[in-house]
Amino acid sequence: MFILETRNLKYEYPDGTLALDGIDIEIEKGKRIAFVGPNGSGKSTLFLLLNGILEPRQGEVLFQGRPIKYDAKSLREVRKQIGIVFQNSDDQLFAPTVYQDVAFGPVNLGLPEEKVESCVNRTLEYFGLTGLRDKPPHHLSGGQKKKVAIAGVVAMEPEVIILDEPLSNLDPAGASEIVELLNELKHFGKTIIISTHDVDLASRWADVVYVLNRGKVYNSGHPSRIFADSALMENTKLKLPTIVETFREFEARGIADGHAPMTLLDLVDSVEGPYIGVRCAVADFDILKGQQVGLFMREGTIVAVPHAEQEAAGLALSDAAAGDEVLIEDVRGSLTSGTGRIHVVRIPRVIEGGSNNVDISDLKALVDRATFKRVGAMGTSAKVTAAKAGIHPDFEVDVIQSAMLLALRGLDCLVLASGGMAELVKQRVDERNSNGCRNIQCSIEKI
Ligand SMILES: Nc1ncnc2c1ncn2[C@@H]1O[C@H](COP(=O)(O)OP(=O)(O)OP(=O)(O)O)[C@@H](O)[C@H]1O
Ligand SMILES: [Mg+2]
Repeated sequence: MFILETRNLKYEYPDGTLALDGIDIEIEKGKRIAFVGPNGSGKSTLFLLLNGILEPRQGEVLFQGRPIKYDAKSLREVRKQIGIVFQNSDDQLFAPTVYQDVAFGPVNLGLPEEKVESCVNRTLEYFGLTGLRDKPPHHLSGGQKKKVAIAGVVAMEPEVIILDEPLSNLDPAGASEIVELLNELKHFGKTIIISTHDVDLASRWADVVYVLNRGKVYNSGHPSRIFADSALMENTKLKLPTIVETFREFEARGIADGHAPMTLLDLVDSVEGPYIGVRCAVADFDILKGQQVGLFMREGTIVAVPHAEQEAAGLALSDAAAGDEVLIEDVRGSLTSGTGRIHVVRIPRVIEGGSNNVDISDLKALVDRATFKRVGAMGTSAKVTAAKAGIHPDFEVDVIQSAMLLALRGLDCLVLASGGMAELVKQRVDERNSNGCRNIQCSIEKI
C-alpha cells in the first residue's frame, strides 16, 4: 500500500487556470521524493492538494489507502499526518516568537503543557535554533525563517513532510544543513517530498523523481533514469545535473563508461581503471614530478621508495618532499591497490540521551590512538558529542559519500554517527562494495 496517492487529480483555479490536468502519483512510505519541473508546472498546487488545503475539481487524494475527506474534522486529522512547509516562509510563520511558532503544532495536537515544552525544546535544539527562541520570526534572516518553518512542521511529527522549495534563499552551508536534516528525518522512517529547481540536489538526494510539465506528470522514476535522459531534460526545460554533464564529456573521450552517475562517488567509480593513480607516502627522500619510483605495502600504507625494482613501480605525478604523500600513476607490477578504512562510532540519538550517554574520555582516547586522517560527524547528537570532546569534524554534510571518497584515496577515516545512521553507513558501503568496485572496509563500534 502507498502512503500517499493521487488518482486523476485535476485542479482549476477560480480564474480558469487549469493548474493540474490529471495527476497520478504513488508514493511509498519512507522514501525521498523530488518533484521537478518548470515554473508554473503545478508543483505548489499539487502540494496544496496533497494535504487538503485545496480540494480537487476531479479525482482524489488517498492517504494510507483512504480518500481524503474535506470536512473540518477529517482535514485536522490529515494535517497532523501530512505536514507542509510552504514555498514562502512568510506564509507560514505568524506567532510572536520562534518558540511559540514551533509550539503551535504540538499545542494544536492537544499535548499537555510539559510535553509541548520538551518537544519544542528538543526540536529547537535539533535545528540549532535554541539561541533564537524569543525572537519574532519576522526579524529573522531568510534562511533562519526557513529553518523555523521546517522545525514547526517537524515538531508535529507528521508521517509525511512536504517541503516546497526547501532550499530557496539558503546559502550553501544552510542548504547543506537542511539536506542533512531531511536525510536524518528520512532515517527515522518519515516520507519526505520536496519540490526543487536544483537538479543536482534532486539527482543525488531523491529515491524517486517526478517531472511535472503543464499540470501533468511528464515522467517519473529513479533519478539515474530521469536525469540520464537528455531529450526528457530538454523537453521539460530542465538542465542535466553537473555530474551527468561531466560524465558525458568523459564518456565521449573514452575515459568513463557505464551508467550515468548521480553522485560524485559514482562519477569517481565510473572513471576507475588505468587512469587512477595510487596515493602513497613518500619514504625518506624527495621526489620529482615524473620520477620512476618503487612501491610496496607497509602496514596497509603504500610507500614510495627511490629504487624502481620493487614488486610494483610507477611515475610520480608531482614533486613531493620526504614524509609527504604523492599520487603515482601508470602503476605496474603486482601491487594490489589498498583503500582506506572507515571506522564508525555509534553515538546515542538525542532521545537516547545523546552526548550525555557517551564517555567523552573514551572517545578522545579512540581518536588519539588511531591513525584517522579525517573525522566526519553525522546527525545532531554526533556533532554535539564531537564538540564536547574537542573534536573538529572535517566533514558534516554528505558524510557517507565523503568517507568513501577518502577511503578510495587510501585514507582512514572516523565517522561519528547518531543512532541508526551508523548501520546506514555500513549498509551503503556494503551496497557499493557488492557492485564490484574496489572494496572499502567499514567497521562499527558502540561507545
Ligand atoms: N492563486 C492562483 N490563482 C490562479 N492561478 C494560479 C494561482 N496559483 C497558481 N496559479 C497558476 O497555476 C499554475 C501552476 O502554478 P504552481 O504555483 O502550482 O506552479 P509551480 O510548479 O509551483 O511553479 P514554481 O516553480 O514557479 O513555484 C500556474 O499557471 C499558475 O499561474
Ligand atoms: Mg511553486
